[in-house]
Amino acid sequence: MRANGITDRNLSLFVERVTRAQEDERLRISRELHDTTIQSLIMVLHQMERYLTNNHELNITHMRFLLNIQDSIKTILQEVRHFSQNLRPSIIDHLGLLPAIEFLLQSLESSSTVATILNIEGQSRPLNKETELVVFRIVQEALNNVKRHSEANLVEVTIIFAAEGIQFTIEDNGKGMGGSSNILDFMQRGKLGLAGMSERAKLLGGDMKVISSAGKGTVIKICIPENPTPNL
Ligand SMILES: Nc1ncnc2c1ncn2[C@@H]1O[C@H](COP(=O)(O)OP(=O)(O)OP(=O)(O)O)[C@@H](O)[C@H]1O
Ligand SMILES: [Mg+2]
Repeated sequence: MRANGITDRNLSLFVERVTRAQEDERLRISRELHDTTIQSLIMVLHQMERYLTNNHELNITHMRFLLNIQDSIKTILQEVRHFSQNLRPSIIDHLGLLPAIEFLLQSLESSSTVATILNIEGQSRPLNKETELVVFRIVQEALNNVKRHSEANLVEVTIIFAAEGIQFTIEDNGKGMGGSSNILDFMQRGKLGLAGMSERAKLLGGDMKVISSAGKGTVIKICIPENPTPNL
């Protein structure tokens, strides 16, 4: 029982519900984006293309102006696709977990100054899709934290496929967590990232450890049993 009367079990149930609701909502928004915004942008692009091919008599200034708008629409389309991909990464459905994690690491490298290393040990094997999505979310949040809080210049993700289960380690060389690294304390201050990661690991029948101290970087270690069926 915590000082304010909230039990750890209640907190755990609460985070589990939030986690599930978040996943449903992300799926819904990603579908909306795909079915409406992305389709509308594609339609505008096609209209522009048709207009440009049918109007060769346009003077060079007008032509350049329209080509610039066309380029901007292509960039927006790419950004929205990227955003939608992050919400419900179809890369998992098409290519599996490892390419999806590579995608996260590339995104981190291209949007920050953090270099990344991916190590795979043991014989890699596909997990069921829901499990892969849960693991993807954990790694995604861990890397978000590295980007936002760590001041690291290197993060190393190691995935060990062992007979009894799979272990994921995300280790950065940043400033580490000063003071407490207790997830419940963070939760009480409205910080839900680490709690969500831990809860997701539990949904897979596994667990998560945070090893961190000031000046010594942060290590997140998640162990999940072989081929668990997530409780989502
Ligand atoms: N890799 C890291 N390096 C240094 N500090 C970290 C790292 N990851 C987490 N932290 C610290 O732990 C705190 C809790 O992280 P958590 O993900 O739970 O919350 P948050 O990122 O602050 O907010 P959010 O709810 O948006 O995730 C952070 O505010 C930060 O101080
Ligand atoms: Mg966070």
